[in-house]
Amino acid sequence: MACKKRSGKLQAMALAVLLLLLLGLAGKGCHGDVVQFIFGDSLSDVGNNNYLTKSLARAALPWYGIDFASGMPNGRFCNGRTVADIVGDKMGLPRPVAFLDPSLDENAILKYGVNYASGGGGILNETSSLFIQRFSLYKQIELFQGTQEFMRRKVGKAAADKLFGEAYYVVAMGANDFINNYLLPVYSDSWTYNGDTFVKYMVSTLESQLRLLHAMGARRLTFFGLGPMGCIPLQRILTSTGGCQDSTNALSKSFNAQAGAAVSRLSSSLPNATFRFGEAFDYFQDLIDRPLAHGFNDSRAPCCTLGRVRPTLTCTPLSTLCKDRSQYVFWDEYHPTDRANELIALETLRKLNITVVANAATTSSP
Ligand SMILES: *[C@@H]1O[C@H](CO)[C@@H](O)[C@H](O)[C@H]1NC(C)=O
Ligand SMILES: *[C@@H]1O[C@H](CO)[C@@H](O)[C@H](O)[C@H]1NC(C)=O
Ligand SMILES: *[C@@H]1O[C@H](CO)[C@@H](O)[C@H](O)[C@H]1NC(C)=O
Ligand SMILES: *[C@@H]1O[C@H](CO)[C@@H](O)[C@H](O)[C@H]1NC(C)=O
Repeated sequence: MACKKRSGKLQAMALAVLLLLLLGLAGKGCHGDVVQFIFGDSLSDVGNNNYLTKSLARAALPWYGIDFASGMPNGRFCNGRTVADIVGDKMGLPRPVAFLDPSLDENAILKYGVNYASGGGGILNETSSLFIQRFSLYKQIELFQGTQEFMRRKVGKAAADKLFGEAYYVVAMGANDFINNYLLPVYSDSWTYNGDTFVKYMVSTLESQLRLLHAMGARRLTFFGLGPMGCIPLQRILTSTGGCQDSTNALSKSFNAQAGAAVSRLSSSLPNATFRFGEAFDYFQDLIDRPLAHGFNDSRAPCCTLGRVRPTLTCTPLSTLCKDRSQYVFWDEYHPTDRANELIALETLRKLNITVVANAATTSSP
């Protein structure tokens, strides 16, 4: 009798342990996935602008997306994957869903995270106003705040705090603040500031935005710096020789130096923050200067082009495509090809000392 009672107790204990184990495992498999929240511009947009029907910056027509999954336009301003796609893949993280994608619900957010990136978006609110519709970084943070409130209602505060506290955050912005603001005389910022004061204005705005994300729970964050903006095809045609715009590249470098310093200041001063600055400026410049050494044949012309006509978004169904897309550094007037993005992503990870997951996706498929 006494013995039976004891084994009953043991059984109950074993059951309790088993239940705890099962709950623990379920927690990991279902609601414990580490996801990403991505903030950015056209270099990271995965479809938001296609839902902004008045936006002038949309990758909604062929030949955008030709090397991605079905080959139909998917909102990426590229033939294939973005740098953020590849960096996330290599870290073994799921690809986040575009914020405006109608399929986005609490389950998708728990499983994949959210991408708020929007073509034309800038650190400054006033950037790219000529594009009519785009999400600036402040707007994207506002949308993220909405996502947080939504998730707290749907899954409760504890689960939401865990999701947002464990997630990886990517912020990749700044090129439009130069190309579609400071460098265009139609914007008042271009005559209010000089290069130096404009970079300081951008970096102090960025610092407030990163602090805001930290206050909202972001702990692991990577900010991607700028590439050699003066070498994009759209900038090259402004020089008499077709060479890179050195003054524009100098702005990229100055921004990277100051934004990098701001990110490391925040990382050491904000509680529990691991904020990193990722960039591949010199490597990207080398791809442009010595294309053959990296397996490219052309680092000057866009692969998808209308020839001599150079409006801002030149890749349309009427454009001609280069023969071999993997031989071109640039896909259109602004954006690198899938192959160039892959090399830039790998260099960015190498400089961040991030080990690449062995079985990470290696193709353009989602
Ligand atoms: C920028 O826009 C946001 C709304 O998206 C607004 O809350 C904020 O006050 C604006 N900031 C400035 C400096 O205009
Ligand atoms: C920092 O991390 C510690 C340990 O996980 C935690 O107790 C503390 O609340 C965190 N502080 C902030 C501000 O996140
Ligand atoms: C490389 O580019 C040159 C000049 O544009 C062209 O004549 C040549 O056919 C290209 N080679 C390959 C392998 O694409
Ligand atoms: C990466 O590792 C190298 C050598 O261990 C170190 O010097 C460098 O500071 C590290 N970089 C980052 C971003 O952690």
